[in-house]
Amino acid sequence: MSAPATDLSAAGTRQAQQARRQILVTSALPYANGQIHIGHLVEYIQTDIWVRALRMHGHEVYYVGADDTHGTPVMLRAEKEGLTPQQLIARVWQEHKRDFDSFGVSFDNYYSTDSEENRVLSESVYLALKDAGLIDTRDIEQAYDPVKNMFLPDRFIKGECPKCGAKDQYGDNCEVCGSTYAPTDLINPYSVVSGATPIRKTSTHHFFRLSDPRCEQFLRGWVSGLAQPEATNKMREWLGDAGESKLADWDISRDAPYFGFEIPGAPGKYFYVWLDAPVGYYASFKNLCEKRGIDFDAWVKPGTKTEQYHFIGKDILYFHTLFWPAMLEFSGHRTPTNVFAHGFLTVDGAKMSKSRGTFITAESYVTSGLNPEWLRYYFAAKLNGTMEDLDLNLEDFQARVNSDLVGKYINIASRAAGFLIKRFDGRVQDGAMDHPLLAQLRDAIPHIAAHYESRDYGRALRQTMELADVVNGYVDTAKPWELAKDPANAVALHEACSVSLEAFRLLSLALKPVLPTLAAGVESFLSIAPLTWADAAKPLSSTTPINAYKHLMTRVDPKQIEALLAANRDSLQATDASAAAPADAKQKSKASKDAPAMANAAPETPDVISIDDFAKIDLRVALIVDCNVVEGSDKLLQLTLDVGEERTRNVFSGIRSAYKPEDLKGKFTVVVANLAPRKMKFGVSEGMVLSASSTNEKAEPGLYIIEPQSGAKPGMKVR
Ligand code: MSP
Ligand code: ZN
Repeated sequence: MSAPATDLSAAGTRQAQQARRQILVTSALPYANGQIHIGHLVEYIQTDIWVRALRMHGHEVYYVGADDTHGTPVMLRAEKEGLTPQQLIARVWQEHKRDFDSFGVSFDNYYSTDSEENRVLSESVYLALKDAGLIDTRDIEQAYDPVKNMFLPDRFIKGECPKCGAKDQYGDNCEVCGSTYAPTDLINPYSVVSGATPIRKTSTHHFFRLSDPRCEQFLRGWVSGLAQPEATNKMREWLGDAGESKLADWDISRDAPYFGFEIPGAPGKYFYVWLDAPVGYYASFKNLCEKRGIDFDAWVKPGTKTEQYHFIGKDILYFHTLFWPAMLEFSGHRTPTNVFAHGFLTVDGAKMSKSRGTFITAESYVTSGLNPEWLRYYFAAKLNGTMEDLDLNLEDFQARVNSDLVGKYINIASRAAGFLIKRFDGRVQDGAMDHPLLAQLRDAIPHIAAHYESRDYGRALRQTMELADVVNGYVDTAKPWELAKDPANAVALHEACSVSLEAFRLLSLALKPVLPTLAAGVESFLSIAPLTWADAAKPLSSTTPINAYKHLMTRVDPKQIEALLAANRDSLQATDASAAAPADAKQKSKASKDAPAMANAAPETPDVISIDDFAKIDLRVALIVDCNVVEGSDKLLQLTLDVGEERTRNVFSGIRSAYKPEDLKGKFTVVVANLAPRKMKFGVSEGMVLSASSTNEKAEPGLYIIEPQSGAKPGMKVR
């Protein structure tokens, strides 16, 4: 039994001597109008691994996040679900938090941009920019929905492509022919919200004067500190050559109705969601500071020694490398130490697709019985700190997890632990801790820790698995199962098992940022305190026996992958047909041109649907406040319905043969409230009234609209 070699303790001291850094880390704030999917997880897992690796040095690290709650999509989605925006974002917050917890994403605080802290901070940033002369107001003309009485973001205008004539294309580009254009170029444009034809309307907007020479000068300097050459190049492209001043002012206001913060001194004007979203990083941190007694101001003032990092996807680089640093700089704050951008996730080489079942939600992954740490491992193995896209290949996923994690790593413990418990009272041989194999592993640990810090997780894991190969080679040579046959070999057997187990401890340390739950299992199995990088130098000791080995990780079963794809295929069809892959869209629009009736044709026998499918249909009690005949149509009646919303709805219904307007006025009925508005010859129909008729109308004519029992009120949900 000898003490650990002296160079090991020197390494330990070096670790301890590294000054304790103060580090604030964020991931982009996910929108509160959708579920967390595996694409998002690339980011949150990546950030979490980095945070954990830095915490293992003993630094003071805070990792904060929040839901990005404001904006038009959240507002409309809430309305559609019959909720207030606050109710919707409260529910989504719970779902997001649940998903992050499942995947071990260790936020110190998970908050919301719809918070008092964020309102106060956003206002103060805005007012400081205004004081600095960096806010302008200007009148601009925009598309406006005259039915819904709101300005329309580009995504809410559709129409026919001006180039190829494809129907139902978005206002910015055509998914069929790929051309890009302005929303004003669309033929027969309509509002996705009400179906109405948008008009042009002028309104006063507030702008952040990014074109100001001060901003340009500041950004030119700031860009030189960016970690990623790809990001620097993008920035240089946006900034242009010196004196070129390519930066345009940024429109930071939106008109009511808008879910967000009203701009101080500008009634009816709201901060554009992207103004208050990054401020939400600080709001979440401020909330944490209040809870933990941290001095917020000391962290965010100019010249502070604290560090600040933002992990983001490459799609939102512009916001984080231009707007956000400039907002901070000119509102009297420190600026980010760095921004780390990553690429986009594809699944089996293609964009995530709902029709293929590869639009995989975090929740479905967990409920299909897959271990979240498998995905953490797989993503980590593919991440290298660049902006390159990465692919989740499902076959490769199974192969890697099974061969690397279970085959190479877990097996080391399962092979050694049994003998140690049965023959040696669970205690290691202290002298074995000096074995050269272990020195090799200990020496590698600081390098692996450094690869994590430089975000080259792929390299950290490759190196770890190479070491696992070396350890397996050692076990294969020592052959403990042979040694165990003869009691005369007890010392050699004890040594082999002790070396294996200490090697396993070191490999677990190397994997800990990626596999925190597994590492916790290892710590309790080995009866050791939570591992930090400094523990590389603190070997297992005979004074603390290990516990009986319990299985730490299972293999991926191909059936689980099938279940995962099936789960995501199911949930899709009804939810979002428009999110289908471009290839599908191409086919769809072609089919609809050739055979326009196809899409509406009812199947002969109704298919069985799930309760979830039924839940997609938003049935509401409606009061028929007015009813009129339609000039020029002998089939239709025009109904004005109160569905419990701010305004009434206009619905055309083919029930003239059965009812006179005066029969229906003042009556209640049931309406399908979330049917896409339909443009008809006589106007837009915003829903469908339910009625009963025979399946054989010729033999048995008659049509009866559905009426609820008395007591039902407009807007009540029918389920
Ligand atoms: N709400 C904004 C961010 C505001 S930050 C002040 C947003 N939200 S998001 O939900 O669309 O995306 C959140 C993060 O997930 C972004 O960094 C985005 O790049 C990332 N990803 C979303 N889909 C992704 C993939 N398919 N692949 C990799 N990252 C993905 O943007
Ligand atoms: Zn087109």
